[in-house]
Amino acid sequence: MIPLCIPNISGKEAAYLKECVDTNFVSTVGPFVSRFEQMVAAAAGTSSAVATSAGTTGLHAALLAVGVGRDDLVFCPALTFIASTNAISHCGATPWLLDVDRESWTLDPAVLAAAIDRETERRGSDLYHVDSGRRVAAILPVFTLGTPADMDAILDIARRAALPVVVDAAAALGATYKGRPSGALGADLTMYSFNGNKTVTAGGGGCVVGDAKLVAKVRHLTTTARVGADYDHDVIGFNYRMTNLQAAVGCAQMEMLETFLEAKRRIADGYRQGLGNLPGIGFFPDPEWTQSGYWFSGFVFRTADGAGDSRALRAFLRENGIDARPFWKPMHLQAPYANAPRSLLPVSEDLWERIVTLPCSTQLTDHEQSKVIEAVRLWHRERPR
Ligand SMILES: Cc1ncc(COP(=O)(O)O)c(C=O)c1O
Repeated sequence: MIPLCIPNISGKEAAYLKECVDTNFVSTVGPFVSRFEQMVAAAAGTSSAVATSAGTTGLHAALLAVGVGRDDLVFCPALTFIASTNAISHCGATPWLLDVDRESWTLDPAVLAAAIDRETERRGSDLYHVDSGRRVAAILPVFTLGTPADMDAILDIARRAALPVVVDAAAALGATYKGRPSGALGADLTMYSFNGNKTVTAGGGGCVVGDAKLVAKVRHLTTTARVGADYDHDVIGFNYRMTNLQAAVGCAQMEMLETFLEAKRRIADGYRQGLGNLPGIGFFPDPEWTQSGYWFSGFVFRTADGAGDSRALRAFLRENGIDARPFWKPMHLQAPYANAPRSLLPVSEDLWERIVTLPCSTQLTDHEQSKVIEAVRLWHRERPR
């Protein structure tokens, strides 16, 4: 089976792990953790970073750090991975689901502005959702597929509404927006994931970058809110730190970041060239404001029965030894978020079932990619119409 997206462990991972074992630094204290934080901060275009046990835990702590609390609402796109909304829920808050923009598949600034203008009111320094009477505490844009959202527009709205912005940039390390790195776009905090299917992995893990004071707060919260070296804790904190073992793998992977990004770009280009002339097919977004991290490659069916075509093609590819998958099912269609407040979601609803993700591991060979392209073309030629 040609896999969808697997880790590429071909650098110094084993050597760095051995160093952890040899030096006895296997836990959350160790030199690789600080080195990893510095490497991620540099790649993200910031100077402050804190490594966490997962992207989800990093996002949870980041939302707490900007003041999200019990019964609050947080604006979030409906088309995302459930970790984004779960992190909001872990704060005791609820996502307010908004639609994505058709061109970028990221939070639509016009929908965000309309929700604020039409459905909220200001009481003192806070913003409230008129219908539920709940406070709106933050905006959480998601960099879908490694593609930055239109951050200038979103930050402008956020400033006017006096709302903090925490970005779920899980798969966007190495992406740029108007030439700037994805962690330096003006958000309060930005989270990256190092889960096994990301372009660079730590086996599992996350990293939160951004404003130095807020990053320090995240560090505090994720280290059991410990004050000093003894057993003093000033709030209810979390054991959310990354271990030196994870960071050792993460450092070896970060050394490969540019090589891996180049491979992801080459793979995305390969599919565009190999499949671009097929009728009824559109590619993943490539808005002019961004250089995506191209985390996943694939396409979207523009046909009348895009959902059926996507299902049938995926089954055909799997029968032929090629792993192809659907993409995120939007949050309002997930049991835990069926009753979350939301705007109309025509783009998310139309899009998600039409998407096909194709093999895009960084070690995918030209031969394997040609096999995928040929299989897609064969299915397209012979499918029942
Ligand atoms: C958009 C998005 N947000 C959050 C996460 C959660 O990250 P993690 O798996 O590291 O907790 C992921 C990936 O797993 C993701 O794709």
